[in-house]
Amino acid sequence: MSNEVRVGLVGVGIIARTHLAVLAERADVALEFTVDPKAGPVDFRGGTPPHYTGLAEALDAHRPDLIVLATPTDTHADLVTLALLRSTATVLAEKPLVHDLASLDRLRALGEQTDLRGRLFTAHHFAFSPEVDWAAEQLASHPAWGPVTTITSAFHDPYVQRGEQARASYGSSWTDSGVNQLSMLTRFVELTGLLSAQQLDGGMSAWCTVAFRSRGETGTARLRSSWLTGASSKESSLALGRSGVELFLDHTAMTGFAVHEGELLAAFGNDGRTDRKVAHYRPLYASLLSGRPDPVLGFEATERVTTIHRAG
Ligand SMILES: NC(=O)c1ccc[n+]([C@@H]2O[C@H](COP(=O)([O-])OP(=O)(O)OC[C@H]3O[C@@H](n4cnc5c(N)ncnc54)[C@H](O)[C@@H]3O)[C@@H](O)[C@H]2O)c1
Repeated sequence: MSNEVRVGLVGVGIIARTHLAVLAERADVALEFTVDPKAGPVDFRGGTPPHYTGLAEALDAHRPDLIVLATPTDTHADLVTLALLRSTATVLAEKPLVHDLASLDRLRALGEQTDLRGRLFTAHHFAFSPEVDWAAEQLASHPAWGPVTTITSAFHDPYVQRGEQARASYGSSWTDSGVNQLSMLTRFVELTGLLSAQQLDGGMSAWCTVAFRSRGETGTARLRSSWLTGASSKESSLALGRSGVELFLDHTAMTGFAVHEGELLAAFGNDGRTDRKVAHYRPLYASLLSGRPDPVLGFEATERVTTIHRAG
């Protein structure tokens, strides 16, 4: 990418606010245009970039370096296709990249016509959360703790009152949160396959189990997600059964600690100044725009995560 990255933002709903906040603080970024058939235009650093109701129309008038897709999940595959074929831009699509395996196959086939693997990235933002980063460092720097043997993760979002609107934007609890849980787990273990999947409460909740490998051994991750709550709450625990070490992560508070029996081994907190989503997307954009994007954003990681995610 050139020195100034000209960005086109497609979809200006809830998560677009975080993209805009992080993009606005980057001196190397200019917002070239926005697209949304219903919302927008937006203020960006005191100005109002041109706004369009469709991506095709925007691409007739602009040559962006980066197209960010922050639209409902079931629109991603079509918009990615349009962005890859009608521009030369890098494309950052919100997670999950696709809502079914047929769409993944369709995108994979684009690799014959475009530099898919060099241009398409998925915003697996949970993998960049500070407490996840901390836990990954703890695991890497303490080989004596042995393999991770069991992971338990619960992601709750207060979407029950948003009803059909949540379903239209996010699909189901597993579609929305499962991909965050899986992409986060790739920081700790090597995911090998879906063991079981139960969609509950008409898709508003889920209970899934996933097999993984850690330091040569096999383990199981138990993943709960649900929209049946009035508050957002997300946490995970990692048990390292050989040594008895346990890691507890509170993703809502962005904190964590490691224990062994009655002893506190390590703890992680933050200064309370950074909004949680900004704390995810700031390092995500730093990585994407560094010229050497973290592999967790790349198509290969997306294929691995999607194959497990959409098997459920
Ligand atoms: N809300 C979050 O906290 C969050 C966090 C991370 C990722 N995401 C992901 O981001 C995506 C969007 O989520 P959201 O919460 O912002 O949803 P949203 O419903 O608030 O916003 C989506 C926006 O996209 C627009 N849109 C729909 N079709 C479009 C099209 N073809 N072209 C341009 N714009 C179009 C809608 O009018 C709407 O303004 C989803 O895939 C979701 O999984 C959301």
